[in-house]
Order: sequence, then C-alpha cells, then structure tokens
Amino acid sequence: AFEVELAESGQVLKVPADRSVLDVVREVLPDVAYSCESGFCGTCETGLVSGAAEHRDDLLTEAERDAQRSMMICVSRARPGERLVLRL
Ligand code: FES
Repeated sequence: AFEVELAESGQVLKVPADRSVLDVVREVLPDVAYSCESGFCGTCETGLVSGAAEHRDDLLTEAERDAQRSMMICVSRARPGERLVLRL
C-alpha cells in the first residue's frame, strides 16, 4: 500500500495493493476522467506535484517517465516508499 495526496483538498488516500489509484480517487472525486482503465487511452493522465510514480502505462515516453510530471492513475503506482501528490 502507498498514499496519495490530492493537492486541491489536501485529502490523503491509502491505495492498497489490490486497487488502482483511479479506484480510490473515484470514491472522493466521482467525476474524475477515465476511459480504458488499461493504460493506453490517456484520459486519466493526472499531474504529479511531487513523488515518483512507477509507470505502467503504454503512453508516456522514457523522457516523460523520468520527468515525473504526470501519470496514468488507472494503472501506474508509487515507487516503493514514495507518496504521490496528485494535481487533483
Ligand atoms: Fe485510459 Fe487510464 S483510463 S489510460
């Protein structure tokens, strides 16, 4: 499990191993945008204020992964020990 923080509200959410960031975020932000839920459409791309994601999508380039400025919250997670602050 790891934690994500929503930058706008300051809410901190726990993401267990068997759930996606998108799933957990939807509980508090039901209108959050998503579509494929499989890491290929880009609809759920979310800005990263801080923290390093373990990118599991099929869209970002190597350079974009390294930049850690956004992530696909339907599939990507936090690197071990990281807490992600999302631009949401
Ligand atoms: Fe399609 Fe996340 S919903 S990439």
